[in-house]
Amino acid sequence: MKYQKLGNKLNVSKIGIGCMGMSFAYGEYPEAESIKTLHHAIELGVNFFDTAECYGPYRNEILLGKAFKHKRDKVIIATKFGFAIDPSTEKVIGFNSNPEHVKAVAEASLKRLGVEVIDLFYQHRVDPEVPIEETVGAMAQLVKEGKVRALGLSEAEPDEIKRAHATHPITALQSEYSLWTRSVEHEILPLCKELGIGFVPYSPLGRGFFTGKFTREMISKNDFRSVLPRFSEDNFDSNQKLLKNLNEIAKEKQCTMAQLVLAWLMHQDENIFPIVGVRRMQHLEENLNSLNVKLDENDQKRISEALPLDQVKGDRYSGGPKAKQAIVTSN
Ligand SMILES: NC(=O)c1ccc[n+]([C@@H]2O[C@H](COP(=O)([O-])OP(=O)(O)OC[C@H]3O[C@@H](n4cnc5c(N)ncnc54)[C@H](OP(=O)(O)O)[C@@H]3O)[C@@H](O)[C@H]2O)c1
Repeated sequence: MKYQKLGNKLNVSKIGIGCMGMSFAYGEYPEAESIKTLHHAIELGVNFFDTAECYGPYRNEILLGKAFKHKRDKVIIATKFGFAIDPSTEKVIGFNSNPEHVKAVAEASLKRLGVEVIDLFYQHRVDPEVPIEETVGAMAQLVKEGKVRALGLSEAEPDEIKRAHATHPITALQSEYSLWTRSVEHEILPLCKELGIGFVPYSPLGRGFFTGKFTREMISKNDFRSVLPRFSEDNFDSNQKLLKNLNEIAKEKQCTMAQLVLAWLMHQDENIFPIVGVRRMQHLEENLNSLNVKLDENDQKRISEALPLDQVKGDRYSGGPKAKQAIVTSN
């Protein structure tokens, strides 16, 4: 495993594990199997694990608390706050990054995770009603109190990143980045680099699409992908045809498509630390081997061009091209 400093602060494995799908968004999965995968990830050297209050909600943090009970010294746990969750329905009903709420979620997450300190605490989405300085001020107070080690943002815009970073150093920005979601390349990646903020791409495999193994039939009941435009009946087949070129490059490089796509991401810039969603152990092993795929500049260019963005059908979220989250679920 390769380790690198995230935002000059946390020494994390170059590839982290996104734990969301173990409890949320992609249908049911047996808890015991998830725990086996998490333990195997540690054996393989992974130390960076991603969760959030709203995954479940709550269940994913509880799962990690259980899985890492006797392994605290081996893991760096990132979690997130930022949504308002209706206590009776447990549905996300809006944003909430009010300072009081930030503190309350941190206390609750500490309990669910069974830890004394949250290693990395992200704001999940910027709250349009609360100035980011106020939110980050509350997060900084948690650092002072020793309840949080480092701060992060997710899907924040350049101006918000700058204002947050001026309030308290931001260690990581987590936003969607993969071959079909590349808007961060223009301004956000260079800004993160300039400010010393590590960039953590979420859904680096396009929610499973860039494994080349995903079919519409695999979308089970309660699978969030059923409402994502790129996975719709109208768009999916057309999008899948775009994988042909990638498949050929992967064959040439003697790796799988998932490995190629992850290697491409990590070769885009050294400041990139993908968190990959894996519930199945064989997926975990396959993905970690992307660290052994070597790509040169020409390979990078060919992979970048293999999937023409103007041919991708559908937005990444329902709610239009600018939407930063799906309207119908809490992701
Ligand atoms: N900040 C945010 O707003 C936000 C939003 C979304 C996600 N995230 C975080 O990012 C993490 C990763 O994103 P993601 O889970 O949405 O998407 P992803 O990592 O792009 O893809 C996950 C999907 O790919 C499948 N997969 C992984 N490796 C595979 C392989 N080698 N072969 C075949 N299938 C493979 C997984 O299957 P199995 O699970 O069955 O192994 C799962 O269905 C999440 O877990 C979460 O922690 C954050």
